[in-house]
Amino acid sequence: NKEYDNCIVGAGLSGSVIAENYATVLSQSSLIIERRHHIGGNCFDYIDTETGIRVSLFGAHLFHTKHQRVWDYVQRFGEWVPYEHKVLGLVNGKHVPIPVTIDTVNTLFDLNITNSDEMDEWLKDEQVTLTDTQGKPREALNSEEVALTRVGPRLYNLIFKPYTYKQWAKYPAELGPEVLSRIPFRNDFDGRYFSDKYQALPKDGYTSLFENMLDSPLITVVKNTDYFDVKDRLKCKRLYYTGPIDTYFAELKWPKLEYRSLSFERVVQHDTPGYFQPAPVVNYPQADDMDGNPVDYTRIVEYKHLLNQTSNHTIYFIERSKDGGEPYYPVPNIENKELYKKYQEMAEKEEGVTFVGRLANYKYFNMDDAILNALELFDRDTMGMM
Ligand code: FDA
Repeated sequence: NKEYDNCIVGAGLSGSVIAENYATVLSQSSLIIERRHHIGGNCFDYIDTETGIRVSLFGAHLFHTKHQRVWDYVQRFGEWVPYEHKVLGLVNGKHVPIPVTIDTVNTLFDLNITNSDEMDEWLKDEQVTLTDTQGKPREALNSEEVALTRVGPRLYNLIFKPYTYKQWAKYPAELGPEVLSRIPFRNDFDGRYFSDKYQALPKDGYTSLFENMLDSPLITVVKNTDYFDVKDRLKCKRLYYTGPIDTYFAELKWPKLEYRSLSFERVVQHDTPGYFQPAPVVNYPQADDMDGNPVDYTRIVEYKHLLNQTSNHTIYFIERSKDGGEPYYPVPNIENKELYKKYQEMAEKEEGVTFVGRLANYKYFNMDDAILNALELFDRDTMGMM
């Protein structure tokens, strides 16, 4: 029955950054209510007891940012080890760099491109120009057209078309242009997955960062508790809500916002001092393998590669996209965008409540986006209080 300055729904990055700032900057108290049995939201990781390897419960989390403010902020909660992520794709039986680089193109099409100028030339020959009925150039109307104008039909059919279908259960022609607007493509040999200035992993894992962030007498965390079961008993001056926006307004009985989810199949391989696969993440864009057997998964993550972990065994997770389950990726279509706008209008009218984070904004946030969003909302809400 204690009164808190702030009640915060969700102990993920967004909620934790808000609580930490109120405690450190303003000496204000926060009560965090978390539905799950753990802190950390989707960044939660733990040591797998069978193999002794640190794994993430909700898929691989690689930290990268270009924001100095975010980078400085995360230094305060643990040691970071520089790490530049690389991803391979298994395409036509060969492991090739993803994003597509000169090496990818050389391997897949048996070419010998040696520099960016030659790569640009090759690409120009591949790219499709879209024209209207009068033969004038026109904009791409869907993701298939975007991909054809950027990389041409060969790479599109080999990689982007089947992978997009596996991810969204829709072909790119059925998806708005924004889904493939940032096609991962490089005209050089840079095989890094991200190009941000800062790329690193927390030495002791993400969960320990959260423990440090929340380690304050001014912060109380209650786990295994759904906010909507206890909300009438809470006493707080202000509410920060990081859960799904449509759940907050469930009483309106409007349609739910659509999400794509993932399933993770855990596989332990005993007596494997080395690795199962040649990189931490291997993508499987194609619908079938070289023998014509269907491949229904999108990628396999082997955590032992991250932070050079050692074990006599290895563990990997096979990821499949699915509908239903945990909400991960907002489905980008016009219906959802308009529905979200209606929820957002309701949220703006809600006195004393700030909607923070990826679920409340119905937007895919990388970790650094989530941190920056929370820091900026804290600044906004506390202007004049310091
Ligand atoms: P998050 O979902 O983490 O936290 C919200 C919390 O609120 C949850 O713990 C939830 O249980 C709780 N909650 C919701 N409703 C509640 C209720 N009614 N009552 C109580 N609690 C409630 N980013 C990146 O930078 N690099 C990467 O490699 C990846 N990889 C990646 C893989 C996958 C599969 C996904 C889905 C996401 C990533 N991300 C990522 C993104 C990253 O996970 C994301 O930026 C953060 O988790 C966002 O933190 P939030 O706090 O906003 O949400």
